[in-house]
Amino acid sequence: MTPPGPDKIPQHVAIIMDGNGRWAKQRGLPRLEGHRRGVETVRTVVDAARELGIRYITLYAFSVENWKRPTDEVSGLMALLDYFLKRELDTLIKNRVRLLTIGRTEALPAGVQRELQRVIAATKDFTDWTLVLALNYGSRNEVADAAKAYATAVQEGREKLSDASWERFSRYLYSADIPDPDLLIRTSGEQRVSNFMLMQCAYAEMVFTPVFWPDFGKADLESALQEYGRRERRYGLTTEQIKTGGS
Ligand code: FPP
Repeated sequence: MTPPGPDKIPQHVAIIMDGNGRWAKQRGLPRLEGHRRGVETVRTVVDAARELGIRYITLYAFSVENWKRPTDEVSGLMALLDYFLKRELDTLIKNRVRLLTIGRTEALPAGVQRELQRVIAATKDFTDWTLVLALNYGSRNEVADAAKAYATAVQEGREKLSDASWERFSRYLYSADIPDPDLLIRTSGEQRVSNFMLMQCAYAEMVFTPVFWPDFGKADLESALQEYGRRERRYGLTTEQIKTGGS
């Protein structure tokens, strides 16, 4: 399958990785086996994204709501995350991929936090490719945390209320250093955004695929890019304005 031309390659693709549980259930396997296969897909997709020229890829790995799952599934997911970070460090360095996180990572198990800090520190100087893991992430919490930080900055005189704007406020989001996603993909046939990057996806194109995350591969990413390439991003303008450069 031929991907869209280089001008149509999204700079930032965000993915809601869904369907691990159903993938496992279909095969009579425990849910955790679906997550295990999901980790292999993460590696495939991060490699594929780089090969396709996608500079930022954000993966929704653990939501604030996921803590409510059975405790063995939560601890299994944390163990997988720890395993992933240990296993991928060398590859991330070799491929010059920077790791960043969004979310309240301070609530993750201490061991996972240590691994995260290690990988983030080891990859911090890479600028070409960025992998962002959304961990203990929720968009509404992110806005609440940003509002608190912004209000503190106003109180301390670092911000002026009269200067308040989206541009200034957005610097307090977890994603301050990351461009907004151009394309949001959700696997498994669900068609909702589930508290994921609600502010940042204001103008993102959305592609929903029925494929379960463990089965998602490079061809599925390419087909999402093709769909993206067919979309006209208007940002509130008319088609004619887009054609004449926004005038
Ligand atoms: C959704 O499938 C997936 C998750 C809640 C976790 C995603 C985690 C991974 C792919 C593995 C860990 C990630 C990294 C980066 C190491 P689901 O369980 O909700 O599936 P279902 O809707 O079919 O039950």
